[in-house]
Amino acid sequence: MATDAELPSAPPAWWRDAVTYQIYIRSFADANSDGLGDVDGIRSRLPYLADLGVDAVWINPWYPSPQADGGYDVADYRDIEPMFGTLADAQALISEAHALGIRVVLDIVPNHSSDRHVWFQAALASPPGSPERARYVFRDGRGPNGDEPPTNWPSCFGGPAWTRVTEADGSPGQWYLHLFAPEQPDWNWANPEVVEEFHDILRFWFDLGADGFRIDVAHGLAKDMTGGDLPADILADGARFATPYWDQPGTHDIYRGWRAVTAAYEPERLFVAEAWVETPEKLARYLRSDELHSAFDFSFVRSAWDPIELRSTIDASLAAHHEVGAPVTWTLSNHDIVRHLSRYGRPQSERSANPLNGWNGVTDVGLGTLRARAALLLLLALPGAIYLYQGEELGLEEVEDLPDDVLQDPIWERSGHTDRGRDGCRVPIPWTPDGPSLGFGTATPWLPQPAHWKDLAASVQADDPSSMLHLYRTALTVRREHLAGRDLPLQWRDLGGDVVAFGRGDAFTCTVNLGSEPCAVPPGRVVLASGPLDGGSLGRDTAVWTTAD
Ligand code: BGC
Repeated sequence: MATDAELPSAPPAWWRDAVTYQIYIRSFADANSDGLGDVDGIRSRLPYLADLGVDAVWINPWYPSPQADGGYDVADYRDIEPMFGTLADAQALISEAHALGIRVVLDIVPNHSSDRHVWFQAALASPPGSPERARYVFRDGRGPNGDEPPTNWPSCFGGPAWTRVTEADGSPGQWYLHLFAPEQPDWNWANPEVVEEFHDILRFWFDLGADGFRIDVAHGLAKDMTGGDLPADILADGARFATPYWDQPGTHDIYRGWRAVTAAYEPERLFVAEAWVETPEKLARYLRSDELHSAFDFSFVRSAWDPIELRSTIDASLAAHHEVGAPVTWTLSNHDIVRHLSRYGRPQSERSANPLNGWNGVTDVGLGTLRARAALLLLLALPGAIYLYQGEELGLEEVEDLPDDVLQDPIWERSGHTDRGRDGCRVPIPWTPDGPSLGFGTATPWLPQPAHWKDLAASVQADDPSSMLHLYRTALTVRREHLAGRDLPLQWRDLGGDVVAFGRGDAFTCTVNLGSEPCAVPPGRVVLASGPLDGGSLGRDTAVWTTAD
């Protein structure tokens, strides 16, 4: 009989080092010519994604929704928004993706629903104290007439987090909680009916073949409703961390229940959490063995393009994840964040008050492109999983000059037109150099594209060896060949203060020069570089992968 030591170990789970491509469905590909992307648009571009070499896609919410927040206001969790297609289209997409070896991760929105959800409509039609109201967070107001909100909590989109309703008899009534827009009432996760409903929704999509879920606002579900008002200093700091509603202990119990749901599936389905918590240690608490599989690590979003910051943030994330045996899930950009090409193209000196915007100052697109190319090789060489955001492979920058009247992000209105919101990273992507929307579709797109994006169209870059698209495809191929599926811990190499360099195992080395002076290309065979190597030297903001063989 074989002893444990002789038994072959199980292959590592696919998601531990997968490369997942985020599809912001509204802006990916428009097959039905209404100016908005859709399910059939995604289906038509699956061969492109297979050719790019990604292992999975994550699709932003595609459920029926009034689109008050780009689909993060869900009216029905078990169907597809008619503007995007049908459930049959979604099923076809999942099987076509699987046939190409691409897994499909969906986006679940458990912190809040749409105010058009039947359960919220029922809550509005029912009296205070009713079971219908107990699925959401309703409270009486303060003050003699109850006309002040129950707490001073702010909405993440600006304004208060409470809205007052009118009761059935026409009198001013209770208040409901919405940490985001008023059209997004928060669920009450202390109610077992809500817990059961979401287990059932998860099973619905897993049974249709979904391989996993990204969890929206994963750190917000459990609330301490006895928490009371926020102190002035927390409010002044944007109420991002120390509040009675972010990262509460009860959240972990919710995910233990979710893990039990996925564990019943063979193969087990995946969760990846969007949890904006304060430290990597707090993030890792969501990744204990009976909780979630993975969670986005936003350290590259929070860090400057700076060797000291990058080295220390990478170290901190690796150490915290190691403690719980989870891989780090790295990412540079998503649909909420200023595109990293633009973040890196700005002077890295003055941080924006909003961490999603990175740095203040004027964007130098040339510099941003150079750094984005190097950042890709840095990211892809790290141990762990990677999420890419659509369009970064084309070298798209943040669109910073969208006219006021096209802006759709609720942040624009709710901030009283002081914050332009996130539309600049959501502009439909260019596929070809011509047509009314550069191949996105045949109608006028929902957000206008910059004219010069014709030069960045996928078809234009496809055969150009110097293009960003070519770099992404090649880097993904090389990563698969040298790093994927292998347990190769990171070992730092000391090549001087401005150089971030590390080995993965004995053979593979990644070296990034963040200084202004060239440095020597390390010994070994060059397998890929993010820019030209000038006579054996590595120029500023350039990365190289070398191997010992
Ligand atoms: C999503 C955002 C959304 C918010 C509310 C997030 O973190 O990524 O796009 O506006 O949750 O659902």
